[in-house]
Amino acid sequence: MKTMVIVAHPNLSDSVKNQALLSELRKLPDTHIRDLYQEYCNWSINVEREHQLLLDHDLIIFQFPFYWYSCPPLLKKWFDDVLTFGWAFGPEGENMRGKEFMIATTTGGSEGEYRAGGRNWCTISEYIRPIHSTIARCNGTFLPPFISYNSSAEALKEDAKRYVEVVRYSQMKLPQ
Ligand SMILES: Cc1cc2nc3c(=O)[nH]c(=O)nc-3n(C[C@H](O)[C@H](O)[C@H](O)COP(=O)(O)O)c2cc1C
Repeated sequence: MKTMVIVAHPNLSDSVKNQALLSELRKLPDTHIRDLYQEYCNWSINVEREHQLLLDHDLIIFQFPFYWYSCPPLLKKWFDDVLTFGWAFGPEGENMRGKEFMIATTTGGSEGEYRAGGRNWCTISEYIRPIHSTIARCNGTFLPPFISYNSSAEALKEDAKRYVEVVRYSQMKLPQ
């Protein structure tokens, strides 16, 4: 059972929240963590390589800071380039079936802002519906998202531990 974490942060070296999550996540065995913006600084995604990496992993996590109610643009490009007709969906496009996918995101806004009547009106689950639908269309299983709304150092530490527990639990549920 192998896990791949695709981190999409335009400036990971200046990150506080995503780095806090990653520092705990790195302690997990069998977890392949990638920095998408570093790997593809020219934005030219190697589709064949990405297909092979998807085939090699059972649980795929997209980790990113929430940007304008969505993911950073290189991850959107990754979806556009990698999830191709005939490979990820459509006739004979069966390669994503049986795989599990999760979003792990950090926000600037508080949890209370992400609800009906709150400042943002919608929940994160509502904002990420396009990604949820994309995964469902490709016959993948979309797990509940992990969201870190917090910003204090103490709360971030707790979030990072909770993140690792969520990932560990998802790994345990998959066939070994
Ligand atoms: C371009 C941009 C757009 C952002 N859009 C949102 C947003 O829509 N909602 C939100 O809660 N935070 C938003 N933020 C705040 C980021 O989500 C927050 O700074 C990030 O999660 C912090 O993580 P980091 O320390 O790893 O960078 C935005 C930040 C930037 C730079």
